[in-house]
Amino acid sequence: MEFAKRLQPLQSNVFADMDRAKAVALAAGRELIDLSLGSSDLPAQAHVIEVIAKSLHDRSTHGYLLFHGTQTFRQAAANWYEHKFGIKVDAETEVLPLIGSQEGTAHLPLALLNPGDFALLLDPGYPSHAGGVYLASGQIYPMPITAENGFLPVFADIPAPVLAQSRMMVLSYPHNPTAAIAPFSFFQEAVAFCQQHNLVLVHDFPYVDLVFKDTGNWGKNLSNPKSLVPSILQADPEKTVSIEFFTLSKSYNMGGFRIGYAIGNAQLIQALRQVKAAVDFNQYRGILNGAIAALTGSQTGVANAVATFRQRRDAFITALHRIGWQVPTPKATMYIWAKLPSPWNQNSVEFCTELVKQTGVAASPGAGFGKSGEGYVRFALVHEPPLLEIAVERIAEFM
Ligand SMILES: Cc1ncc(COP(=O)(O)O)c(C=O)c1O
Repeated sequence: MEFAKRLQPLQSNVFADMDRAKAVALAAGRELIDLSLGSSDLPAQAHVIEVIAKSLHDRSTHGYLLFHGTQTFRQAAANWYEHKFGIKVDAETEVLPLIGSQEGTAHLPLALLNPGDFALLLDPGYPSHAGGVYLASGQIYPMPITAENGFLPVFADIPAPVLAQSRMMVLSYPHNPTAAIAPFSFFQEAVAFCQQHNLVLVHDFPYVDLVFKDTGNWGKNLSNPKSLVPSILQADPEKTVSIEFFTLSKSYNMGGFRIGYAIGNAQLIQALRQVKAAVDFNQYRGILNGAIAALTGSQTGVANAVATFRQRRDAFITALHRIGWQVPTPKATMYIWAKLPSPWNQNSVEFCTELVKQTGVAASPGAGFGKSGEGYVRFALVHEPPLLEIAVERIAEFM
């Protein structure tokens, strides 16, 4: 059978190699400590589950959900955003519910790129950003981000011919996999650059809440200090070129429920809505109801999740330092981005496949997130401290 060319770049994936290595480890009877997936192990909150359970028994929730979700959901998302970032959002034209934020960022290129157009992506970056560009038959220009630049791209390095054919730039801070945070001044620079070069500015913002207080307040100079990190729309309050993607997967431990939303420029929202209208019928209304409960109810659960990840971060970093692996303490996210020592500093895939086969500890090879991720490994803090400490002991034996 012959498949479309656009499928080819989606077939080579180092994470598939990792899955095979994990299967080998399991078959050899190893006890797996899987730190390779950024899927929260914490439960969704009880009051959210209750609302969803109640919706299941309401037959009016059983049919197709048309009209880009419910007005109540869009208003809840708009209010949540306004409360956090101090910028007004029109629930009718500037909000779009999504079946997870990944669905939205992966579909958006279909609305923006003609075949061969470039998208400017962070390298390393979230693999699905590239996947969406490939599905739209676009080209990727990877913007390398390195520790020397605080894991921020240097816009002046983008070649002029690439820029001339570029339609969109994708940023995402706090960043997966590096855990870097972008200061507000960088967002201002990004907005000015995109305005100047007629680019759509996409900001994927799943870790909006997973920021650790002890590392400072990066949004403190802004009019509304309720978030520790800035939103791209604070640098583009008229929403001239920007669209931002949010999810309930991380803050509210609802990854499996598949619910997110986009907020931003009304024309971009409209274009993404048109793509989605050809593809899906929106998320189930009961889950939207649960998401409303999460966004409008007590935020104690969010604070507890942040405290849990901070505790795990500290335990894991302390253990790594104890075995002599000097890894910087991340300011945000649920990840540790660790630079590999010699002899693995140019072979993160071999490090991760051998590590899991010999010890059962699974991590993500930096190369899987892009060329500039080579030489690093990402650990997701999805287990409690005692298991994280056992993982580090096994890593020490392996190394
Ligand atoms: C940068 C980034 N975007 C999107 C997602 C997926 O979010 P969702 O569950 O809303 O699709 C993740 C999940 O790890 C992520 O790290």
